[in-house]
Amino acid sequence: MTFSKRLIESPYMYWAKTQQAARFNLGNSGVLPYLLRDLPVRLEDLELSGPSFYGWPPLQAALAHHLGMPEERIVHAVGTSMSNHLAMAVILDPGDDVLIERPTYELLISTAEYLGGRVRRFNRRPENGWLPDLAELKRQLRPETRLIVLSNLHNPSSARIPDAILKDIASLADNVGASVLVDEVYLDAAFAEGPKTAARLADNILVTSSLTKVYGLAGLRCGWMIGNPEAARRAWRLNDLFGVIPAHTAEQLTLAVLTNFAPIRDRAQRLLTVNRELLNQFLKSRSDLECPPHTHGTVAFPRLRHGTVESLCEHLRKHHEATVVPGRFFEMPQHFRIGIGCPTAVLAEGLNRLGQSLDAIGVTGGAD
Ligand SMILES: Cc1ncc(COP(=O)(O)O)c(C=O)c1O
Repeated sequence: MTFSKRLIESPYMYWAKTQQAARFNLGNSGVLPYLLRDLPVRLEDLELSGPSFYGWPPLQAALAHHLGMPEERIVHAVGTSMSNHLAMAVILDPGDDVLIERPTYELLISTAEYLGGRVRRFNRRPENGWLPDLAELKRQLRPETRLIVLSNLHNPSSARIPDAILKDIASLADNVGASVLVDEVYLDAAFAEGPKTAARLADNILVTSSLTKVYGLAGLRCGWMIGNPEAARRAWRLNDLFGVIPAHTAEQLTLAVLTNFAPIRDRAQRLLTVNRELLNQFLKSRSDLECPPHTHGTVAFPRLRHGTVESLCEHLRKHHEATVVPGRFFEMPQHFRIGIGCPTAVLAEGLNRLGQSLDAIGVTGGAD
């Protein structure tokens, strides 16, 4: 048997699926699951099949209303993951130049590489509030660059890019005929700031997102791409290769979510507000961590001042049944990612245990 040379395996996703689970799991970037029984739906109202060809009309209308964007620009897809795949695939040909932020969600790199993109990177640095540096981005752009890729809110830091900077990036990209992909899967976790999609800012911006992370609806896989009408048309047609039609029951459940959204949003906002306070108290108490106070989002990305993150993670798992995400998955091995979307009691005890591991490695310098 000869296997395809294009197979790409994601070390981060493999780790997340096989190593992250723990009694005190502070690795998740999403909010704890919303329960099916809390949705106002009855089994007898659901159907397995329906007229979902290029979008189920009631869901397209609800998404358009939810996003404040015209239906013709919205492509419903399986999570932000497939939306990212579609967005990149409608722009990239094999060999095309792609500029991706560093640090980033590793799957953005893998997907671009799988599609044959030649990936180069630009930095988002903590000393610049993790914002993209426009001067560096400008230097990195080439006439053959086809796509710039960003996450907003940023995974792993949760930094939010102001609209003015996004517009400048879109205009820099436009100078060379490139597009900008903004992955907004965490954007709604900036509740108080009234987040609005970057898709409204420029014609060469493609946006991807879903209800999976911020609202605890991972299993619903409700994602979307927003592009200009031609990008959307191409994405619908490309999606024919992957799913043909979506799971209609999931579409109906998504519609139920969108038409009963306030309690789902309020629950997520309440949980994150309480948990953020705990995280900030913890960060304030630790001189061995460098991290600005957390203001929005579901994750934080502190830097460990002394010792190694690998020893910290090993100690946490071995002695405290707890996990965080090691920074090596974000190419920043001196950092680690903490998620605050878990139950408050789990976060409180998880942080307590993280403190004990930090104390232990601070004393021994190792994992024992
Ligand atoms: C930046 C980013 N995009 C996309 C995803 C995947 O989202 P979904 O579950 O909606 O496919 C993740 C998951 O962690 C992510 O961090």
